[in-house]
Amino acid sequence: MKTGDRGARAGNGNFLWLGIETSCDETGVALVEERAGRIRVVGALLTSQVNRHRPFGGVVPELAVREHARNLPLLVTRLLEEAGLRPQDLRGIAVTQGPGLASSLLVGNAYARALAASLDLPVFGINHLEGHLFSPFLEGDGPISFPFLGLIVSGGHTLLAAVEGWNRYRIVSATTDDAAGEALDKIARLLGLPYPGGPEIERLARQGDPKAFRFPRGFPEEGDLRFSFSGVKTAVRYFLEQHAERRSDPRFLADAAASLQESIIRTLCEKTLQAARQRSFRTVAASGGVVANRRLRQMLEEGCRDAGLCCRIAPSGLCTDNAVMIAAAAAWKHAAGIPPSLGTDIDPGLPLAL
Ligand code: KG4
Ligand code: ZN
Repeated sequence: MKTGDRGARAGNGNFLWLGIETSCDETGVALVEERAGRIRVVGALLTSQVNRHRPFGGVVPELAVREHARNLPLLVTRLLEEAGLRPQDLRGIAVTQGPGLASSLLVGNAYARALAASLDLPVFGINHLEGHLFSPFLEGDGPISFPFLGLIVSGGHTLLAAVEGWNRYRIVSATTDDAAGEALDKIARLLGLPYPGGPEIERLARQGDPKAFRFPRGFPEEGDLRFSFSGVKTAVRYFLEQHAERRSDPRFLADAAASLQESIIRTLCEKTLQAARQRSFRTVAASGGVVANRRLRQMLEEGCRDAGLCCRIAPSGLCTDNAVMIAAAAAWKHAAGIPPSLGTDIDPGLPLAL
C-alpha cells in the first residue's frame, strides 16, 4: 500500500479523493474534492443491504461480505462515470480500517489497495468513528473549530470525545453496555418492528405522547456522564409483558415508542450538555446513525442554544454509515499535513482513542 503523498495536486489545485466504506452492511463510495481545506462532495453512492439482512433481524456477516464484494467495483465504476471522471483523475483513496465486521472491512481494504496499486495512489486508512466525528462539519457555518466535544451515537457506539485537534481525541464518556442504536434496534424487535429499529421507532413515536409512560434512564445523577441503555431495553420488555392485552392497540404502541425514545434522547442530550459544561467546551458536534432522529436534533439544538453553545450536527443524510465522511476525513487530514497514521491492516476493534 502506498502511503506517501506525491504532492500531485490536480492542475486546478484541487485534490480528488475516493472514499470507501464497508465496515458493516452498507457499501458506500464517494468522491470528494478538497481545495484549501474546503470539501465539496462530487458524488456518492450507497447500496444498503438492509432488505437482505432484515429476515434475520440483524446483520449476517457472510451475506454482507458477498454483497460488498459484488457491489463495490460496480459502484466505483458508476460513481466515476456519473461524475464524468476517470480513475486517473483520483489523487488519493480513503478506506475505513475499523472498527467494524472483520470480513466486511477486508473486502473494502483489499479493493482499495488493489485499486491504489494499479493507479499508483496513496491510501489513507480512516477510523470509522473519526469519519462520524467530523461529519458535522460537512455542512453549516464555518470550518472545523478545535476544540470541540463530539457526540457519536450509532448502532455500535455511544460516546463523548474531547477533540483537541487531528489525532488528539480523548474519550470523555462511553456506554457501559448497549449503544443507543443497538438498544433501539432490540426494542424495535420487541415491538414487532423491522430492522433497523431506530427509524421505525421514530416513525411510530411521531403519533405518540412522549409523556405517556416513564422509562428508566441510565446513571441519571447530575454530573455522571456514563451512558447505559440496557436498563431501558429490559424495562420495555417487562412493560410489554405487563400490557400484553394492549399490544394490538396502535395508540398504546405509539405512546410507548414516543416515551422510550424520549427517555433515550433526553439522556443523550442532557449528558452531552453536562459534559460540555464540566469541561468548558464551546462547541458540540453530533454524529452517527441515531443523530438522524429529528427529535434528537431538535432537542440538542435547543439545549445548546439555551446554554450558549455552538451546535454542529451532521447532515441528516450523512448520519448513518456513508463513504463521504471517510473521504472527507482523509481529505481534511491530508490538507492539514497529517500523514496517513494507521497501518495497512484492518482492525475490527479499532478504538477512537485509548
Ligand atoms: O452509524 P450507523 O449507520 O452504523 C453504525 O456505525 O453503527 O448507525 C446505525 C444505527 C442503527 O442502530 C439505527 O437503528 C440507528 O442508527 N438509526 C436511528 C435513526 N436512523 C438510524 N435511530 C433513531 N432515529 C433514526 N431516525
Ligand atoms: Zn457508523
